[in-house]
Amino acid sequence: MILVTGGAGFIGANFVLDWLAQSDETVINLDALTYAGNRQNLESLARDERHLFVQGDIGDSILVDRLLVQHRPRAIINFAAESHVDRSIHGPEDFIQTNIVGTFRLLEAVRAYWNELQDEAKQNFRFLHVSTDEVYGSLVKDDPAFTETHRYEPNSPYSASKAASDHLVRAYHHTYGLPVLTTNCSNNYGPYHFPEKLIPLMIINALAGKHLPVYGDGQQIRDWLYVKDHCSAIRRVLEAGKVGEVYNIGGWNEKPNIDIVHTVCALLDELQARADSKSYREQITYVTDRPGHDRRYAIDASKIERELGWKPTETFETGIRKTVQWYLENQSWVANVQSGSYREWVEKNYTGRTA
Ligand code: NAD
Ligand code: DAU
Repeated sequence: MILVTGGAGFIGANFVLDWLAQSDETVINLDALTYAGNRQNLESLARDERHLFVQGDIGDSILVDRLLVQHRPRAIINFAAESHVDRSIHGPEDFIQTNIVGTFRLLEAVRAYWNELQDEAKQNFRFLHVSTDEVYGSLVKDDPAFTETHRYEPNSPYSASKAASDHLVRAYHHTYGLPVLTTNCSNNYGPYHFPEKLIPLMIINALAGKHLPVYGDGQQIRDWLYVKDHCSAIRRVLEAGKVGEVYNIGGWNEKPNIDIVHTVCALLDELQARADSKSYREQITYVTDRPGHDRRYAIDASKIERELGWKPTETFETGIRKTVQWYLENQSWVANVQSGSYREWVEKNYTGRTA
């Protein structure tokens, strides 16, 4: 079996659902169920014996030791993290605790477990750490895309905490021989994306008749990847990645934020037109920029294609259409995640951002 951490969040839940759709290998899913964790994402597995959900913290060494000894996983895929840049700006503490201290404690527990494994089990064991392109910092317009050897230049408390966790993972390989793999991926989008992030926020605000808050001039560039392509890349790295190596994952799909918002508006105009027949674009409002906002990310994903034969299957056009359709068809999921704490977050982040 495998142990997945953070498997009730956006990417982790997609990963667990896809894993069990393609394999009968049991998944232990350790998730603290923070505001971003949602058991509803895993509803279709409620009576599936191949999925064992455990609510708990990756930093809880006693719990993690027990899970490892009891279930003896052959691999760990570490998705658990605080993941939202804006939240890290308002309050970095949780990011330090989970992304750095939590990853450290998890690595310590895994090191002790792995040390006791014998022969083939020890040789075949893998710890796969899921990280981000944000650790490489920001690019200017014509810079080449990030390769795996690009220097680390994190600019937000979120990316700095992820960078620290990547360094710990690397050190556990070099110092203790722990068989690790690290993936650094670009911006994901797709089903179950929590509506604090750009694409789901725009879909949900548009349908609710609210402003579509674009930070700064809207010309910041991100490289977008459909979440199921990220999951297939992780499966491939787990299966065939070389121990100790880093693999960049991306969609070869750089777009300025304002283009993303225009595309979402156009799809909604087509699929669920406004009652007054005007475009959802009318709701776009430029607001005060994110402090320290990185201008451009771009991933060079040629290593994973060359060495492991992986490339994305969705284009942005197919992926974003599926995504908008998913949100239109899953209005009860949307309603359920817009809890009191979500409304408090929206109030905190957007009130006072002058138009
Ligand atoms: P998310 O915020 O949607 O989900 C994170 C999950 O981790 C939640 O279910 C949460 O409950 C759980 N969690 C948080 N703290 C925990 C702890 N201490 N112990 C156990 N569980 C805990 O995040 P996501 O967007 O699904 O991102 C998953 C991973 O992928 C993160 O490591 C993130 O840095 C990385 N990543 C995300 C993107 C992206 O575009 N979303 C891109 C590249 C990499
Ligand atoms: O690059 C990978 C990273 O992508 C992941 O590591 C992070 O976990 C993930 O959250 C994401 O980070 P971003 O900061 O790029 O994503 P976000 O959706 O928050 O913002 C995308 C862009 O849209 C960014 O330039 C900020 C902008 N934005 C965002 C929001 C929420 C707006 O213009 N308005 C908004 O309201």
